[in-house]
Amino acid sequence: MLRLLVLVSGGGTNLQAVIDGIKDGTIGDTKIVKVISNKRDAYALARAENAGIETEVISRRDYETKEDFEKALSEGIMKADPDLIVLAGFLVVLPAGIVKNFENRIINIHPSLIPSFCGKNFYGLRVHEEALKRGVKLTGATVHFVDEGCDSGPIILQKAVEVKETDTPEILQKRVMEQAEWKIMPEAINLIAKGRVKVENGKVRITGG
Ligand code: GRF
Repeated sequence: MLRLLVLVSGGGTNLQAVIDGIKDGTIGDTKIVKVISNKRDAYALARAENAGIETEVISRRDYETKEDFEKALSEGIMKADPDLIVLAGFLVVLPAGIVKNFENRIINIHPSLIPSFCGKNFYGLRVHEEALKRGVKLTGATVHFVDEGCDSGPIILQKAVEVKETDTPEILQKRVMEQAEWKIMPEAINLIAKGRVKVENGKVRITGG
């Protein structure tokens, strides 16, 4: 059984896709042991509670210094004792010690085809605004392992999505979520649970199947 810890900050539609994937068998041999949010009002917390999953809020606001917050976050993560940490719209940079401790055991979903429209400051609607500004005809989503850089870790899965001339950033964001994010996130977790994801020389190789 793969023990998942999911970290969230917002609406939690990717968390929902993982909860549903475990329920309908798309994701095998996996259990969400806890959901941690840095935002007390994140709707993702309600989604977790509705599914009977333990939740915890660790907010920067409750700590005087960044160091104290990072210490609490690290302790919360270690206490959950996860095999895999899933960043599902988590808008906090993870403490360096956690990234080191969980090498190739933290995954993130990014709403573009990395290395396009990624890195510092590329999050939320901004990613889609920039894609529309550049006039790309295809965009998509990427699930990747988290390393010490920003969106720079080994790529696990990507899925392309068509851009339409009439798109607004909001419409494109929704299409990328529906057609790519909610599919490749559960798929990546299932592959990891099955032991089919290997990292060699900074690149992912999917084995078997
Ligand atoms: C998604 O667009 C994801 O790609 C990005 O943050 C957003 C999270 O949305 N990393 P949700 O909270 O899963 O609905």
